[in-house]
Amino acid sequence: KKGDVSDLCVSFFGAGYVGLVSSVCLADFCRKVYCLDTDKEKIASLRDLQIPIHEPLLEDKLRKNYESKRLFFLSENFELAIRDSDILFIAVGTPSRRGDGHADLSYVFSVAELIAEMLTPGYTLIVIKSTVPIGTCNKVQEFMKAKVKTPKVQFDVVSNPEFLRQGSAVENFLHPDRVVVGGCGPVGSPSRKQMETLYSPFVKDKEALLFTSWEEAEMIKYASNAFLALKIQFTNEFADFCQLVNANISVVMKAIGLDERIGSHYLQPGPGFGGSCLPKDIRALVRSAQEYSYSMRLLESVIEGNEIRKRRIAQWIATLANESCPKEDVGTFLHGHHTTVTTTNVYGKRFGILGLTFKANTDDLRESPAIYVVQELLSLGAHVSVYDPQVKIESVIRNFDNFKGFPLNICEDSYSACKDADVVAILTEWEEFRNLDWDRLHSLVSRPVIVDTRNLLEPSLIGEKGFCYYSLGRPPSF
Ligand code: UGA
Repeated sequence: KKGDVSDLCVSFFGAGYVGLVSSVCLADFCRKVYCLDTDKEKIASLRDLQIPIHEPLLEDKLRKNYESKRLFFLSENFELAIRDSDILFIAVGTPSRRGDGHADLSYVFSVAELIAEMLTPGYTLIVIKSTVPIGTCNKVQEFMKAKVKTPKVQFDVVSNPEFLRQGSAVENFLHPDRVVVGGCGPVGSPSRKQMETLYSPFVKDKEALLFTSWEEAEMIKYASNAFLALKIQFTNEFADFCQLVNANISVVMKAIGLDERIGSHYLQPGPGFGGSCLPKDIRALVRSAQEYSYSMRLLESVIEGNEIRKRRIAQWIATLANESCPKEDVGTFLHGHHTTVTTTNVYGKRFGILGLTFKANTDDLRESPAIYVVQELLSLGAHVSVYDPQVKIESVIRNFDNFKGFPLNICEDSYSACKDADVVAILTEWEEFRNLDWDRLHSLVSRPVIVDTRNLLEPSLIGEKGFCYYSLGRPPSF
């Protein structure tokens, strides 16, 4: 039965971001893929081909594989999927636990329990795709052994972290830089053979399929995200310093990125890193190290630096509402030398916010620096109008639960959001913000001040349009 990927049947527990993208992509190659979730509404809408996330290329693939009956969505009768499957993936969320920053593993263990109780005689491979603290795979295997009820059940637990990026997840799945599998037996063992077969269509270069221990695979996932966060925080620190000394961060980062030991990616300054992974994973990593009485001091400072950054960006934007195109060095605000913004000096001021998601090409607001900035401005008594191409009003209201009754105006386009604004701030690098009609925007705003926290615009061009333009790590342009 085994040996070719087209013979394999696999199931994903969790129709979230990772589970959905992986099951849709694997359905191109496998005999059958089940995507399972206890959220009945989500499964019903997936069966109606309604996708709960914005992800390029996903919809067509989902439709094709669902209609050709290679991809199935279930919210119950999981035993059917378990019986049919050679490989069961656990791809449920591991959110930050409230209060202590640890990863909440309750979903992982409840799926592990459900699987263990439903396993049928014969061999099944269990794959943990969720991002879990080091040591979890080992614990899950022991836990499942104790929960198995049926005789002659055989299973292995392996770790297979994912490295998908929102906005390019389908592309990343189909063409991975590397695939990491931890905890398989030696060459020829059932777990190893199955993972080699499953990934054979995607990993052409054998060197890119790495077999490691459980702990190494779990660590590789955290180390990868931690390194990306480190590069971003490093870049942001240099951007702020560049601003103080009149140097241009783009020139500096381009030059250092050309050194191939450094590499050119993740050297783009911004309002701080966000999203559902980088901040949560680094917090969880630092917390797990602390359990061993070990301080990861570099990463602790990355977390702290990122929090401080979001606050300073908000304060900077607020401060610019009171100054008429100041020529003084704006970098000082970012370093906290400027007088603190008080409720009175932005009370009643109007801010036009362009972009809310944590980055472009996603509709995700989780840990978005933009959300932080908007909340901060509202709490200082400002009027805030926002526009984001992918964010629906309902999800904004959900994310702004604490701010019911505040003067937050969610707009349908950039121009309505910027009407009468004292300051316009670009917080997400959506392509459409590059090509706005600046003359029209100029005639709509109350004061022509733009803060671009993504360095999306060309300073000289926007300056020519009559705006006072501020960006990160580049001299302001008036
Ligand atoms: C991240 C990793 O990039 C993926 O490899 C990983 O699989 C994923 O987390 C995960 O653990 O699931 P993602 O959360 O989609 O992916 O976001 P990124 O594209 O990495 O961006 C993270 C944040 O960094 C965003 O807020 C983005 O705006 C910011 N960023 C990124 C910068 O500020 N500058 C850069 O140069 C790059």
